[in-house]
Amino acid sequence: MSDSEFKARDASSYDGVTGSFDRFTQSYTTPLAERMIELAGLRSGERVLDVGTGTGVVGLLAAKRAGPGCVMGVDLSDAMLEMARAKAEASGAGLELRKMDAESLDLEAGSFDCVLSLFALTHFPDPAQALTEMHRILRPNGTLTLAVGSGPPVTSLSGWLRRVGKALDLALASLGRRCVATGSLEKWMDSRLPTSGQEESAWAVQHSNRAAILPDLVRAAGFVSVRTSWMGRTAELETPEEFWELQATNSSRVRKRLGSIEPETVDSLRQEYLDHCRKVVERGGKLVYPYAALFVTARMP
Ligand SMILES: C[S@@+](CC[C@H](N)C(=O)[O-])C[C@H]1O[C@@H](n2cnc3c(N)ncnc32)[C@H](O)[C@@H]1O
Repeated sequence: MSDSEFKARDASSYDGVTGSFDRFTQSYTTPLAERMIELAGLRSGERVLDVGTGTGVVGLLAAKRAGPGCVMGVDLSDAMLEMARAKAEASGAGLELRKMDAESLDLEAGSFDCVLSLFALTHFPDPAQALTEMHRILRPNGTLTLAVGSGPPVTSLSGWLRRVGKALDLALASLGRRCVATGSLEKWMDSRLPTSGQEESAWAVQHSNRAAILPDLVRAAGFVSVRTSWMGRTAELETPEEFWELQATNSSRVRKRLGSIEPETVDSLRQEYLDHCRKVVERGGKLVYPYAALFVTARMP
C-alpha cells in the first residue's frame, strides 16, 4: 500500500465513528488534552497549530487560552473535521479548521508560535517528515508539545508498576476474570479474521517502544530542550456493549478491519465477543481500559 493510499484509508476509517470517537474523547482524552495545554504554557494571542486535531479536543482547549482566531486545527479526515467544526461553532471558540496532510503542511515557514499534536503522530506513515514540517512552520524559539499513546519509560517507577499491573491482568485474564482494551478485541479479531497487516503504518509496527524512540526523533528534526513526561489512567467500562464500541472506535487495527467486512459478519463477531465479556462480568471480573500518553516538549533553537 502506498503512503497516499494508507492516508486515505486511515482518514475514511473514521467515517461513521466520529460520534463515538468524540464521546470517548470527552470521557478519557480530556485530562490528557488538559495536561498538554498546561505543558505548552500557552499565552493569549499566541498562534497555535493542532496537528491531527480529530474532533478538536486540543484545539478547542487551546483556543480558550490563546483566544479566538489564534488556533488552527488540521486533519485529513472530512468526518472528524466536520464534527470539530460543529463543536467550534457551537462553542464560539473561533477555532479555524482545515484539511491538510501533517507531512506536507500548506503553511508559511515560521508562521506559528506553538505546535500541539495529541495521539496523531503514529498515524502518519513518516513521523520524521511530519516533525520536519512542524519545525519548518514554527518561529525561532517556538514550542512543540506532542503526545503519543505509550507505556511509561521502562526504568521509571511507573514503568515498574505498569509491569506488575500487566502481570496481574494476565493472571486474571487466564482465569476469565479480566479483559483489557484494546488488546482484548485486537487479539479476538486476530483469531477470527484475516488481516492485511496494514491497519497501522509500517513505522508504528516497527517502533512499539515509543518512549524510547520519540525524543531522538524530535531531536533529529532539529528541536532542542527535549523533555518527556508520562500520564496514565485506567477506566472500568460498565457494559460489554460500551467495551466493544470503545475498541471498535479507538483501535486502528479493529476499526479498519471491521470497516472492510460485511455488516452481518460484524454483527456475529460482536455478539460472540459480547457473550465472552458477559461471562467475564458474571464471574465478577472487569472490563478495563488503560490509557496513557507520553508527552514530549521541545523548542526551536
Ligand atoms: C487518534 S486521532 C487523534 C485526534 C485528536 N488529536 C484527539 O486526541 O482526540 C488521530 C487523528 O489524526 C488524523 N490524521 C491521520 N493521518 C493524518 C495526516 N497525514 N495528516 C493530518 N491528520 C492525520 C486522523 O484523521 C485522526 O483525526
